[in-house]
Amino acid sequence: MKVLVTGGTGYIGSHTIVELLDNNYDVVCIDNFINSKPEVLDKIKEITGKEITFYEGDVCDKQILRQIFTDNNIDAVIHFAGLKAVGESVRVPLKYYRNNIDSTLSLLEVMGEYNCKKLVFSSSATVYGKPKSLPIKEDFPLSTTNPYGATKLMIENILRDIYVSDKDWSIAVLRYFNPIGAHSSGLIGENPNDIPNNLMPYIIKVATGEYQKLNIFGNDYDTVDGTGVRDYIHVVDLALGHLKALEKIDKDNGIDFYNLGTGHGFSVLELVNTFSKVNKVDVPYEICDRRPGDIDACYADPSYAKEKLNWQAEKNIEDMCRDSYNFVNRK
Ligand code: NAD
Ligand code: UD1
Repeated sequence: MKVLVTGGTGYIGSHTIVELLDNNYDVVCIDNFINSKPEVLDKIKEITGKEITFYEGDVCDKQILRQIFTDNNIDAVIHFAGLKAVGESVRVPLKYYRNNIDSTLSLLEVMGEYNCKKLVFSSSATVYGKPKSLPIKEDFPLSTTNPYGATKLMIENILRDIYVSDKDWSIAVLRYFNPIGAHSSGLIGENPNDIPNNLMPYIIKVATGEYQKLNIFGNDYDTVDGTGVRDYIHVVDLALGHLKALEKIDKDNGIDFYNLGTGHGFSVLELVNTFSKVNKVDVPYEICDRRPGDIDACYADPSYAKEKLNWQAEKNIEDMCRDSYNFVNRK
């Protein structure tokens, strides 16, 4: 099976390409490096010993997409390409709407032209807004609080409409919880250029001494120790979920939505303490005000993905902390 991976040099895309290659898929990738680096391609080759076909370009650009589909017999697409920084999306919403929506529309149009109608899409637990209860199931009400989340929800709706209009489509929408960790080789991982917004990249900067301390955003939440609780999932488990989703869309037409999480919530303090213990490194922190828009707790009910995709996360929080740190230490 030949798979086009958009945004494949990014964090989740690169790990997914490694798993695809290890499982003998042919991979074609497009990325414009807006949030990743070309060296990732060398690392993928170093890990797998295999080549991929790579196009540098923008997924909004239908010409290059047509070129890709003309040059390659693409059977299915995994669409990772998108901008993902919540805070930036509030400051420059049009950049997010333009990039995330436009790229998806171009991709869907060109897929239709070439009669390629199998798609796996990267959505996010952010589409659940403030969940009415926990754990979160796929049929919970959907809402968003920022432009980034709004693009994910809009795209989910576009994909529903596409399937209503044409039952030949086969679409898996994967709602990721909080991906952390890195490939066990330490060659690929999360490598943000800017000041990180998310917890694990920030912990790493503190552990390596680049930043003095972690700011913990609030300890008065309704959780085990007052700090925010999230469902952290190892990026390699997440990557493997994409292979299961591909198998599913290859078999059955339709559109379906899956939570990819572990089902377990960890607080900020639990994650910090585990990271320190596993890696034998200090992570100094200070309790600060809450971050606007944050919720107390968020974790998945992943049973639907287990039932329908035969997928479940295997790695634990210690694996995630060890592999995250191993990636920065090897570089
Ligand atoms: P990432 O930024 O590391 O990877 C995205 C890749 O897409 C980057 O390599 C970037 O250069 C590329 N890209 C962006 N816009 C492009 C365009 N128009 N044309 C070509 N390439 C483009 O992000 P990630 O963490 O790997 O996330 C992948 C997807 O998963 C994104 O859609 C993101 O919104 C979604 N997601 C991520 C998380 C998370 O916490 N990492 C959680 C939920 C959902
Ligand atoms: C954030 C986004 C969400 C996105 C997800 C994955 C917000 C409001 N939400 O979710 O839309 O889908 O990332 O990209 O930005 N924390 C600290 N100190 C820090 C950073 C985080 O205490 O420096 C805390 C947060 O308050 C939270 C937890 O750590 O309780 C996890 O934060 P983060 O990694 O940013 O993920 P989310 O808030 O779940």
